[in-house]
Amino acid sequence: MTRKLIAGNWKMNGSLADNEALLRAVLAGLPATPTADVAVCVPAPYLAQVQALCQGTALAWGAQDVSAHERGAYTGEVSAAMLRDFGCRYVIVGHSERRQYHGETDEAVAAKAQRALAAGITPIVCVGETEAQRNAGQTEAVVKRQLAAVIHTVGHCVSEIVVAYEPVWAIGTGRTATPEQAQAVHAVLRAQLRAATPSERRVRILYGGSMNAANAAALLAQPDIDGGLIGGASLKAEDFLRIVAAAA
Ligand code: PGA
Repeated sequence: MTRKLIAGNWKMNGSLADNEALLRAVLAGLPATPTADVAVCVPAPYLAQVQALCQGTALAWGAQDVSAHERGAYTGEVSAAMLRDFGCRYVIVGHSERRQYHGETDEAVAAKAQRALAAGITPIVCVGETEAQRNAGQTEAVVKRQLAAVIHTVGHCVSEIVVAYEPVWAIGTGRTATPEQAQAVHAVLRAQLRAATPSERRVRILYGGSMNAANAAALLAQPDIDGGLIGGASLKAEDFLRIVAAAA
């Protein structure tokens, strides 16, 4: 069975002082050899701080976005090579907040995933339907279209990605998908990966969207849920650690 991955997504939260307190508390509560992989995806300006605090620990770190371009005249963007410089193991790509507020297309998300892979960083590719799409019976079609763009672009390297199923209606709302609802979509994604690579079992499919200390165990018990992408609950060390413990 694949080792589970619990990844925090701090979003645009934190400060030098808050990050240090949070990381020290997480590191103090993390077993020396956790039974799951654990990571935090932090705002880019704090990568050096997080690298310094987490180096040599069981806590990996990553970023929340990466440029689709390699280098050059792209003011404000951060390249995959820069993330690599700061020891990032992961980068979130195609989070629904970036698709929604920054107009990221499936093709742009795929290009970002490819840049990450080329730099030796694991992209955490987010897919998920809006509430309107779910109500219209389009959930399967939407997530398959989003993942298909990445498979098309990265080819056999798809075995090196992480997928995060994050129903948009569940993000930051306290309305978690039921374990059965999540599992149904994860099974669809797993079948799509199976058709794309013989190594589909290597690909972890995380659930994200109001996952918390209380509901994590039931979600993580589903056969195709290989971990979680945690927003709000990753900002509280105790909650985050309880989710990590549930991933044993
Ligand atoms: P949430 O966010 O856990 O606060 O719902 C998850 C995410 O957006 O990655």
